[in-house]
Amino acid sequence: MGVRMKGLVLSGGRGTRLRPLTHTAAKQLVPVGNRPILFHVLDNLKDAGIEQVGIVISPETGNAVREAVGLGQLWGMKVEYILQNDPLGLAHAVKIAQPYLESDSFVMYLGDNLIGSGIGKYREKFELLGADASILLKEVDNPSSFGIAEIDHDQRVIRLVEKPKQPKSNLALVGIYFFTGQIHKAINIISPSWRGELEITDAIQALLDAGGKVLSDRIDAWWLDTGKKDDLLTANTVVLDEWVKRRIDGEVDAQSQVTGRVQLGYGSRVVNSTVRGPAVIGENVLVENSFVGPFTSIGNGCRIVSSVLEHCVLLESARIEHVDRLEDSLIGKNSVVLRNHEIHQAYRLMIGDDSEVLL
Ligand code: G1P
Repeated sequence: MGVRMKGLVLSGGRGTRLRPLTHTAAKQLVPVGNRPILFHVLDNLKDAGIEQVGIVISPETGNAVREAVGLGQLWGMKVEYILQNDPLGLAHAVKIAQPYLESDSFVMYLGDNLIGSGIGKYREKFELLGADASILLKEVDNPSSFGIAEIDHDQRVIRLVEKPKQPKSNLALVGIYFFTGQIHKAINIISPSWRGELEITDAIQALLDAGGKVLSDRIDAWWLDTGKKDDLLTANTVVLDEWVKRRIDGEVDAQSQVTGRVQLGYGSRVVNSTVRGPAVIGENVLVENSFVGPFTSIGNGCRIVSSVLEHCVLLESARIEHVDRLEDSLIGKNSVVLRNHEIHQAYRLMIGDDSEVLL
């Protein structure tokens, strides 16, 4: 890979669609397979040979992001932070990052996007063909929720529209874009959209209008925008299915069975229980008299007692006790789901704002 290319990761925003989980945390830090989505993003940049990354953060969640990623030592990359005071759009994020980016080429990566392949081959093609921009596309069922591209028979991009009411195609812009310094000029001439944001989609359209060379590639791999609960559970399922290898660092007693691709972290104990992979259990977790079924991720410090769960994501220090069956659920940090096993008549709940309880 030739010239130097920087990475620009967008990790701001307010994560309204993942509330209440994201009242206190950044949506990019919500774990998938027990690792923050943002870590998967940085892995992918590292694998594509990117060594310098600027992370755009918001005042609300910026400190949590800084704490999690630090200076990028885990990846052997140099990470810097760029504060975006208001969520005024993706192109606005690029604008405020310009002093960091200078006139270098860069790959912009939305910090809540996960794809099931590397991006190195797209980087190579972008550099080899000397394009001004390169976008990745993927068919979706709900094109009105994304930026949409119209392309001709030669895969040339004709037009891009952000969240069209009457979409002309079902090819969505994946949140991974390659740019040269030319994009800054395009951003300078666009105006805010109806939602009051400077849209990167409009900036790429402006680049096209000015005669710029914009490439597109349809990706074969899966792609998930993890901004919603169901997508997050799907992402968890896909990541556990494809990336988890068996590794048992914790203790499993003689009365228990741990089968398949299961990760069990240090200090964790499985007592008189069954765990069936693919599943990831963090550190210092207790699983006792329980069944943990496939596609479950359990964060550090959780406690699962006399319960059955499957296809769930539990964040740090959640407690599940005496629950007959918990499925397709996302449980926030320090949350408690407890069935009073002596009295059956009533539910007793203490539920935070914006929570969802299906009984
Ligand atoms: C943004 C972009 C959109 C793109 C999507 C990918 O949408 O504006 O063009 O398709 O990311 O995740 P937003 O997440 O702001 O709704």
